Amino acid sequence: MSEKNLEKIISLCKRRGFVYPSSEIYGGFAAVYDYGPYGVELKNNIQGVWWKNMVQDRENIVGLDSAIFMSPKVWEASGHVSGFSDPLSECKKCHTRSRVDHLLEEIDVFADENMTEDEINKIFKKNKDKIKCPSCGSKDFTDAKSFNLLVKSNLGNFTGKWDEEPTYLRGETCQGIYVNFKNVMDSSRVKVPFGIAQVGKAFRNEITARQFIFRTREFEQMEMQYFVEEKDATKEYKRWKKERWEFYVNDLGITEKKLRWHEHENLVFYAKEAWDIEYEFPFGFKEVEGIHNRSDYDLTQHTKHSGCELNYNDPKTNKKFTPWVVETSAGLTRTLFVVLCDAYTEEKVGDDERVVLKLKKELAPVKIAVFPLLKNKPELVKIAKKIFDNLKTKWVCEFDDNGNVGKRYRRQDEIGTPYCVTVDFETIEKDDSVTVRDRDTMKQERVKIKDLEKWFEKKFV
Ligand code: GAP
Repeated sequence: MSEKNLEKIISLCKRRGFVYPSSEIYGGFAAVYDYGPYGVELKNNIQGVWWKNMVQDRENIVGLDSAIFMSPKVWEASGHVSGFSDPLSECKKCHTRSRVDHLLEEIDVFADENMTEDEINKIFKKNKDKIKCPSCGSKDFTDAKSFNLLVKSNLGNFTGKWDEEPTYLRGETCQGIYVNFKNVMDSSRVKVPFGIAQVGKAFRNEITARQFIFRTREFEQMEMQYFVEEKDATKEYKRWKKERWEFYVNDLGITEKKLRWHEHENLVFYAKEAWDIEYEFPFGFKEVEGIHNRSDYDLTQHTKHSGCELNYNDPKTNKKFTPWVVETSAGLTRTLFVVLCDAYTEEKVGDDERVVLKLKKELAPVKIAVFPLLKNKPELVKIAKKIFDNLKTKWVCEFDDNGNVGKRYRRQDEIGTPYCVTVDFETIEKDDSVTVRDRDTMKQERVKIKDLEKWFEKKFV
């Protein structure tokens, strides 16, 4: 898929109400997006499929919804206050700020995530002649400086000097899971191995935020932390890698050959092993989900900093230990982008062309559209409304009587609606049947009104 298609997807998202730029009437707000009527349905559906797979279909994974704000001590203990940063440089000509590791990547030089400012500056200077500013093409940059990604706030601080003692908007959802480890253990019947899953907002002061909703400053994550004995960590890690790959292929219907694995050689401060699942976006293969073996780092850190022992007493062996964590960490908003890119299709239809989102039925924002053939025939409208009222009690439906049927099909194709029902003259004159048109094959079938619900039940199993 080309960069040109990226422009088309962005345009479709705005035009059809999937994704809007934030605060657009005020000129926009960089790297933040809003989700429109179809976008929120699609996002909820992806989240629902993930929640079912990770929580509801499993016996030993429970859910959590922790607050976005936490004690600032959480972020000191986790290492984010001191170590969660990216190297930033400014173009001296146009003042565009860029991530130095990304500038280096463009010329196939890869920086280690754990490098100090001095180390990264050495490599940056060595390659300066080859690196160009992405905005103006200049080769004149300031030295790289470490820039902390945590977003600060003044919540609960009324001194006017909040910047010295900030609270933070969470930079990842999993910290809420670690600090509730004991609460979940004490209040439910979980036993190691078990997992805690959560979906929610995360915030990062990303230096460069291009590529639409790929990297934004406010985004959503779907994370699961699986607590295991140290001896089982490698085995469980392998299992979760396999399970998460299968989720994209089977549950979301993503084209398997557009996915690949990427191993992290330079690990972030907490990880023992880390692999990413990458998707081939219009701008190349990029990370969608990280699967990390985080060892006992997080629970140990929070035990040290809080004074509260976050360990597990095995009732069988009476052995006390700090569990290790296998983490699966996916971006919900980034996954939505993957789903849109993968579903976007342009097809020739006779001399015409149609754009169709070939979404998996479970993910489609609208499942069934119902039309009367003509808007100005009350007898057709009445029957179509009745069918719509009945079907919408079971599925998300849309009633449309604008324009001609061909245009309505195109509109529904563009938002990925799997089926369109049309009430026409045959319905009233002949046999009480309607046409049901399939989004992918465009084939039409006549179905009796009395059988419609059963017909759809079979299609949406
Ligand atoms: N708890 C581990 C963690 O947060 P990460 O690799 O920093 O790991 C996990 O993030 C996932 O969250 C990424 O694979 C990506 O899908 C999503 N993500 C991270 N930063 C993002 C951003 N700025 N915008 C959108 N999604 C982001």
